[in-house]
Amino acid sequence: MRELLSEQNIDYVERAREVAEKYVRPVAAELDRTGEYGWDILEALKSAELTGVWIPKEYGGKGTGVLDLCLIVEQLSRACGGVGVSYAVNALGSFPIILGGTDEQKEKYLPPIASGDSLIAFGLSEKASGSDAGSLRTTAIRDGDDYVINGHKKWNTNGGVASVFTIYALTEPDKGMRGISAFIVEKDTPGFTVGKREDTMGIRTASVNELDFVDCRVPASQLLGGSEGGGFRNTMMTLDRARPGVAAQALGLAQGAFEWALRYTSERRQFGQTVMSHQAVQFMLADMATQIEAARQLVYASARLIDSGAKNVTKMAAMGKVFATDTAMKVTTDAVQLFGGYGYCRDYPIEKYMRDAKITQIYEGTNQVQRLVIGRALTRELKELTEHLDVTVEHFPDYDPES
Ligand code: CAA
Repeated sequence: MRELLSEQNIDYVERAREVAEKYVRPVAAELDRTGEYGWDILEALKSAELTGVWIPKEYGGKGTGVLDLCLIVEQLSRACGGVGVSYAVNALGSFPIILGGTDEQKEKYLPPIASGDSLIAFGLSEKASGSDAGSLRTTAIRDGDDYVINGHKKWNTNGGVASVFTIYALTEPDKGMRGISAFIVEKDTPGFTVGKREDTMGIRTASVNELDFVDCRVPASQLLGGSEGGGFRNTMMTLDRARPGVAAQALGLAQGAFEWALRYTSERRQFGQTVMSHQAVQFMLADMATQIEAARQLVYASARLIDSGAKNVTKMAAMGKVFATDTAMKVTTDAVQLFGGYGYCRDYPIEKYMRDAKITQIYEGTNQVQRLVIGRALTRELKELTEHLDVTVEHFPDYDPES
């Protein structure tokens, strides 16, 4: 649907697609096997000026926004979902600074991320705090001009390659989620170590690590925004803006798997004709194509809403994430089905899409959390959404839901 994109959007799509086809697709299977990070891909993204598009211009970014971020992630993920998320996580890690950092923090940390010279990761989840993000236990206690961080983070995507981390910790443990603050922590800070790397099902090029903080002392200048207590709101606002990136990763995976399904079913012959010419298969392909297009429009709409500066983006971001990632799981599973036994084997490129897709329903808020967020928004909007029905109710004297 290029017709609905601007010239600038199309330019990003084309450049990202070129990087994906030239530098990502040829090495995707190898990165999946070895778990190595695609440093050459990062160089190609830098050369193509595709890094940091979501970062404001005054801090070295392109300032073009979340839709362009999504378009780039989608193209990268068509070739490799792990590369797609490795790129997108830089947005997740830097939105806290964009949204809540002081001028000094923005001037120091955003330009190297914008240029791709520095990678940033996002440290919120912990062993006992996943969906219930407000229950985190890592502490950052003020001591003179410093804060001393103690605790443990889990599921840190890009943990093994990032040089800067946004970390959420309790500065006032008695206050629960109201006592959460955010910090910018540099990799070489004494007391901070990047720990165990997870042996993940998919996105294997992305280094997903634990982070350990043992009496890790950071100067008070690393407290995000210079004030305590706004960490939970900052992390929620960050996730609202980053979720379209994961949705775009899912979209790219669905599109990539679909293209393979089209190709394979048009080449494979059974019962004297191509598999694709069987109506049962055509119906599956038709559903896949329709679901992908519906997901694409929702993801782009949620990104456009964020770029418009709208205040309330939570529901749309959650809708785009839940729909695109459920679509990716369904489409990649159907693609494996269409490859038959070959689809189940690593000799063929399709099973990786299904493995990569699974995590998109889990991270940056499980799809159960997204539905919770959407449900709460509907409850808040109930009056606005339904009060015009009063007129109709008057014509139905027996209408009485309480009866
Ligand atoms: N924007 C601004 N403020 C928000 C907000 C939003 N979207 N959502 C909530 N808040 C505010 C509320 O207004 C409330 O403030 P007040 O108390 O002042 O009224 C406060 O935050 C608490 O909100 P809730 O009562 O809604 O909090 P909750 O505990 O009931 O649940 C939740 C919130 C939506 C379930 C939240 O915990 C959540 O999103 N959980 C999922 C966490 C998540 O996505 N983790 C992924 C981590 S990143 C990752 O996956 C790794 C990776 O590297 C890719």
